[in-house]
Amino acid sequence: MKLIKANDYNDLSRKAANILSAQVILKPRSVLGLATGSSPIGVYKQLIEWYQKNDIDFSEVTTVNLDEYVGLAPENPQSYRYFMNHHFFNHINIDKTKTHVPNGIADDLEKECEAYNHLLDEVDGIDMQLLGIGLNGHIGFNEPDGEFEKLTHVVNLNASTIEANKRFFEKIEDVPKSAISMGIKSIMQAKHIVLIVSGQEKYDILKQSLFGPVTPHVPGSILQLHSHLTVIYSCGREL
Ligand code: GLP
Repeated sequence: MKLIKANDYNDLSRKAANILSAQVILKPRSVLGLATGSSPIGVYKQLIEWYQKNDIDFSEVTTVNLDEYVGLAPENPQSYRYFMNHHFFNHINIDKTKTHVPNGIADDLEKECEAYNHLLDEVDGIDMQLLGIGLNGHIGFNEPDGEFEKLTHVVNLNASTIEANKRFFEKIEDVPKSAISMGIKSIMQAKHIVLIVSGQEKYDILKQSLFGPVTPHVPGSILQLHSHLTVIYSCGREL
């Protein structure tokens, strides 16, 4: 595992964007695993800037996102599809048909999970997975549990996750209670994982994830077992 301490959010974003852009430059047909939340917004902003300067070309890139809320349509500003279009895809030369986010309004959610697993098989592996971590250690929407969920699944969100994510909604009742999330196995199969963690409040869970016991009660702890993990963090203190 490679630990990189960033000075602040801006520095963290630029460092992560540098790694992602190197990936795309070295392999224009890269499959990128992408994340939502506050953490990656700065990375996407930086990548857009470099795209505008003609430094990166996304025309051959494929993306797969980690998760989506159940019940939110792509046009809903709180959906993760909307987030990705708004913060990233609308501003770069990516072929939108090569960008994938689980469909949270599928009639049959189990079938949608199967289809997403099939897609992950078809793209033949994620080259680089950008990842954030939740305050309770969740990655994607893999919540603390008695066992690791391997593949894409429907998950009931924990009260603490609903609480943490209510800031994006008008009121807490509007936060969906469930989501579709890529599973731990699919995340772990990415060739390179770039974990970005910002904020003092994430320090303890990051430390626990990276140096505590590997347990499904702290989903991020599984990352210790990945052979190519880069952690870029700005949590006010050295790990
Ligand atoms: C959300 C997302 C995760 C994200 C995490 C942290 O619930 N499903 O993929 O990593 O929470 O979000 P943030 O970066 O806003 O702290």
